[in-house]
Amino acid sequence: MGIGSQGKALLATDLNEYVRQAVRVVDRALDEWMPRPPEVPAQLASAMRHAVFPGGKRLRPVLTLMSCEACGGRVEDALPAACAVELIHCYSLVHDDLPAMDNADLRRGRPTVHVVFDEATAVLAGDALLTYAFELLARHVPDQDVLRESVLELAQAAGPAGMVGGQMEDWLGTGTDGATEARLQRIHELKTGALLRAAVRLGAIAARANATQRNVLDRYAESLGLAFQITDDLLDVVGDPQRLGKPVHQDEKKLSFPGVLGIEKARRRVEELVAEACRSAAALGPAAGLFQQLARYVAERNR
Ligand code: IPE
Ligand code: IPE
Ligand code: MG
Ligand code: MG
Ligand code: MG
Repeated sequence: MGIGSQGKALLATDLNEYVRQAVRVVDRALDEWMPRPPEVPAQLASAMRHAVFPGGKRLRPVLTLMSCEACGGRVEDALPAACAVELIHCYSLVHDDLPAMDNADLRRGRPTVHVVFDEATAVLAGDALLTYAFELLARHVPDQDVLRESVLELAQAAGPAGMVGGQMEDWLGTGTDGATEARLQRIHELKTGALLRAAVRLGAIAARANATQRNVLDRYAESLGLAFQITDDLLDVVGDPQRLGKPVHQDEKKLSFPGVLGIEKARRRVEELVAEACRSAAALGPAAGLFQQLARYVAERNR
């Protein structure tokens, strides 16, 4: 089980090593494929770059490459989708941080796009990253069936029945007291889970995975996505803003897992979900270990 740097599969069974190599490949491709002046206004290009570089954990593109390889595909086949999903994620962060939404001034340890530029530029940079993600796919995925399936997958996950819908529900949940665990789980599945699941599914699509492989990855991604966002909520309460690179105590007026369940129960829920993810991943053959390490990392992370 390995990750290729343009054509080569580099064998890695250690998650840190895999991630290091995957991030290098993804960052190189993003750098090459991002639009530049003079085709794009200089300020817009700079704001887009500010949102994308330097990256955060790059978890979604890593998942896309890992899933593709786990299903017998090649890294280069999944690279456009890996970049596209990361661009959409970066756009979602730019808009999430806007004064009208979470009003956050720090992201990945640096001032947010609207702080460095201005609000209008941040709105436009987000719009541009979202649109450009699909242009990148269309330009770099040669197989028409894979392209069609990838566009549908990404659009559904990012759109009104996915991430944007989840952000809407998250917004409507702000300051209300209809805080049931089921409602919160639904918000998290949409605002975060959908894009993480798409990241995994895009890798399977690029590899032309069979139905069994897709089902296994789907189940894995569903547990992972929820574990990921509950951990994000926990870090908002107990995390170190320096390490996180973003402000904490942002969710105090919102529906959050620590708010609804309390910290200890929320932690236990994460542990259950990680165990579920690891059980699902067991069916992934030689790649199982990497997926299990990743699930544990998601729960134990401090950034
Ligand atoms: C933060 O996502 C936003 C959520 C969906 C919780 P990440 O924690 O993956 O952010 P980066 O990309 O590593 O900065
Ligand atoms: C945002 O969730 C999820 C997105 C779709 C961007 P949060 O608002 O909790 O993400 P952070 O904590 O700002 O990264
Ligand atoms: Mg938010
Ligand atoms: Mg936020
Ligand atoms: Mg958060």
